Amino acid sequence: GAPIEVDLTPIAEGQDIKVFWRGKPIYIMNRTKKQVEEALAVNLSSLPDPQTDQERTKPGHEQWLVVIGICTHLGCIPIAHEGNYDGFFCPCHGSQYDSSGRIRQGPAPLNLPVPPYQFVSDTKIQIG
Ligand code: FES
Repeated sequence: GAPIEVDLTPIAEGQDIKVFWRGKPIYIMNRTKKQVEEALAVNLSSLPDPQTDQERTKPGHEQWLVVIGICTHLGCIPIAHEGNYDGFFCPCHGSQYDSSGRIRQGPAPLNLPVPPYQFVSDTKIQIG
């Protein structure tokens, strides 16, 4: 599939949108300061799939989280802004992802993947 461009200006702080790329749902979340601080404060040794928040975001654009919205357990679509970690909750078997999309609790083994993307301007990304 071709890369897609997404305008971020309609996404207010604390909100997200879902777009489709290569048939996959992609969540683009404009994180609140609290969500970013929580993501940075996590002790990596407590994570099933240890990754820093910085590895999952782009320098200078830390409030933006872009993840493939497919649960790494059995492929359901997690719900954004739900669950115990200010991130995502999968209704199928209860996996909980944090505000960085990292798995924190439940049967999913891995973090929500970050798709290939880049900022083409301060308010626009290209996915793919
Ligand atoms: Fe998400 Fe099982 S598919 S917890």
